[in-house]
Amino acid sequence: MSDPQVVVVGHPLVKHKLTLMRRKETTTAEFRALLTEISMLLTYEATRDMKLRDEPIETPIGPTTGSVLEGKKVVVIAILRAGLGILEGMIQLIPSARVGHIGIYRNPETLEPVEYYFRVPGNLQDRDVLICDPMLATGNSAVAAVERIKKLGPASIKFVCLLGCPEGIKNFHGAHPDVPIYTGAIDERLNDHGYIVPGLGDAGDRLFGTK
Ligand code: URA
Repeated sequence: MSDPQVVVVGHPLVKHKLTLMRRKETTTAEFRALLTEISMLLTYEATRDMKLRDEPIETPIGPTTGSVLEGKKVVVIAILRAGLGILEGMIQLIPSARVGHIGIYRNPETLEPVEYYFRVPGNLQDRDVLICDPMLATGNSAVAAVERIKKLGPASIKFVCLLGCPEGIKNFHGAHPDVPIYTGAIDERLNDHGYIVPGLGDAGDRLFGTK
């Protein structure tokens, strides 16, 4: 895939943990812990361009100038419900992040997104937003979520997922070519039921043990 707006985080730790997550024997507890760990690695890459400012400090040995994050707090927005799994890792890494939730489910017949919940921090202007959902499958929910957030005028938007597929990426960047995608891997394809192949199954069910 030669889309410059897609960053595949191919770190060996991501590949290893993703393989453990894909295995059907992996328990809910293991899946949850792995998703949190991988999310931190994805967030590490997705926040590489965060702005810093100098800050004079005193260490026990003497004065120096350190670097601290500049500007308003980052906003992390989870697409319910599986996005909560990525959110967990993100806020462990960026504890001061503000958090929003978007509830969107796919109509099982049409695979189109239906919004049932929307609550995000006020004043998104001047804030960088990371929208997260583990599976970029059809891309319909992600497209709808980004559309909603764009209307609130944030400084920037990035989309962070665990797995994507060519169909979802094409749909997403067809609608939002300006929004970079950070993903752990790009799988082969989407099946007729809107699942990523080989994928890992239903991320929400595996995360919450609801199957
Ligand atoms: N949502 C999931 O949880 N898994 C898929 O493979 C596709 C969408």
